[in-house]
Amino acid sequence: MKTLIVVAHPDLNRSRINRAWAERLTRLPDTTVHELYRTYPDRRIDVRREQALLDAHDRIVFQYPLYWYSTPPLLKQWFDEVLERGWAFGPGGEHLKGKEIGIAISTAGTADSYRPGGSNLFTIRDIARPVEALANYVGAHYLPPFAMHHARDATDEQLAESAAAYVRHLATARRVSAADLVASNG
Ligand SMILES: Cc1cc2nc3c(=O)[nH]c(=O)nc-3n(C[C@H](O)[C@H](O)[C@H](O)COP(=O)(O)O)c2cc1C
Repeated sequence: MKTLIVVAHPDLNRSRINRAWAERLTRLPDTTVHELYRTYPDRRIDVRREQALLDAHDRIVFQYPLYWYSTPPLLKQWFDEVLERGWAFGPGGEHLKGKEIGIAISTAGTADSYRPGGSNLFTIRDIARPVEALANYVGAHYLPPFAMHHARDATDEQLAESAAAYVRHLATARRVSAADLVASNG
């Protein structure tokens, strides 16, 4: 299983958690860490290059800090440009079919705030539904989200623990089943 980690952090030099995660994952076998903002500082995405990267991997994980309950803008642009009709969906568009798609998200909000009735109202799974729906649309299998909350106040030890938990998550994550999708959608 070859894994592509698509990291979308606008400034990894000033990041704590996404940088710690990326540095740890770089040491994993069969894993490519691909930093979008570093690869495309001018925001001009090489669509063919990205599609070739996707073709070469079985599992794709989008890793990003939560920005206004969504992805940083370059990742949204990446979705819009790379997942072309005729490539990712539509006639002949079966390149992502059968692959696994997951997410790893960092937040400033606490874990307790990301629950129904919490100050952020929703779970991370709920907030990331667009990626889950995207995975479904292109025929990929969605993995349960991995998250670290309250990232700004984390100690170095907690960052290392989180990176280790991310590695374990990648080793053990199993696809969200159709039955689970129906159940969680009520
Ligand atoms: C423009 C912007 C929007 C943000 N929106 C959210 C948000 O909606 N929810 C949240 O919990 N944190 C939000 N944050 C905080 C970041 O998610 C947090 O600083 C980041 O996950 C920390 O990871 P890092 O150490 O890798 O930068 C936002 C930060 C910025 C700069």
